Amino acid sequence: MISQTKIDMINLMNNALYAVAKQIVTPHKGILASDERPSAADKNLEKAGIPSNEEIRRKYRELFINTPGIEQYLSGIIMHEETFYQSDSTGKLFRNILKEKNIISIIKLDEGLEELPNFPGEKISIGLDNLKKRAEKFYEDGAKAAKWRSVIKIGNDLPSPEVVHANSIILSTYALFCQQAGLVPIVEPEVLIDGDHTIQKSEEVTNKTLKDVFGTLKRYKVDLKAVVLKTSMVIPGNKCQVMASPEEIADATVRVLQATVPEEVPGIVFLSGGQSSEDATINLNFIAKKEPLPWEITFSYLRALEAPAIQVWQGKDENIQKARNIFMTRLRECVLADSGIYQK
Ligand code: G3H
Repeated sequence: MISQTKIDMINLMNNALYAVAKQIVTPHKGILASDERPSAADKNLEKAGIPSNEEIRRKYRELFINTPGIEQYLSGIIMHEETFYQSDSTGKLFRNILKEKNIISIIKLDEGLEELPNFPGEKISIGLDNLKKRAEKFYEDGAKAAKWRSVIKIGNDLPSPEVVHANSIILSTYALFCQQAGLVPIVEPEVLIDGDHTIQKSEEVTNKTLKDVFGTLKRYKVDLKAVVLKTSMVIPGNKCQVMASPEEIADATVRVLQATVPEEVPGIVFLSGGQSSEDATINLNFIAKKEPLPWEITFSYLRALEAPAIQVWQGKDENIQKARNIFMTRLRECVLADSGIYQK
């Protein structure tokens, strides 16, 4: 029999998780996903003409984290392990800066993607080895939530149900270890934008994927009240000849979410997934107009929030102020869109 003390402890821990999950999706705030792996960050920076190394990546994170006033718009920032243990130029740990701003430190826990043998073109996310220990360590060091990204590729005969389900099992296993360690799992099955698929195909695949993910989370007894879903919007592929209007995107996205996401999930956050900053904002605006929805919704963008500021920054100190102004404008626009009141 479980002792009363143990039951009290479990209840206390669960209540703490529920409170963090709710805080992540605080109305009128969003999440900055500044969590690419170092190699991906280098690629992004170099694409913008900024030669990168560890110190440049640190400066790049500082550009955003030390922007005055971000706490008005952000409930959380997702960080890679490298950033989680880095400091700003005065030697202050980024995660302590966030704590002072009442912004939740969210740690990216997956360790990237690996093609699954026998399933050409399809990937599973890796990083389950040592996950228990890693989750406990990040919790001890101040993280309150975590993120894990899986990708689902649309193509001829793709995705295969086996790979969709393999990713659901991995996401569920990750979610269990997070909750056990005291971290709220952000579960991210991203349906990729790459390809010439139509919005209808995107809707069909997102529907199947989210059904599989939530069916598996339930079977694994993950506490859905302490889960946040991070999802792609239902949009046509980036090589599709047929465009979709923001109204169509919002209709399809909400239709899928209503059919697949249980109401006990406290919130849903959207990734930008290769949409332009403007498209990601307008589409969020139309989705938000469809409220009331049973969950809080908000943004968790990387490229759609950071790209315009990085272009202006160019790795130079003299451009920091200008880049931060642009970042703040992007945050303001996304928060307006999150309330359905953004106007171009
Ligand atoms: O995992 C992906 C990131 O958290 C979101 O990035 O907004 O550029 O798609 P994105």
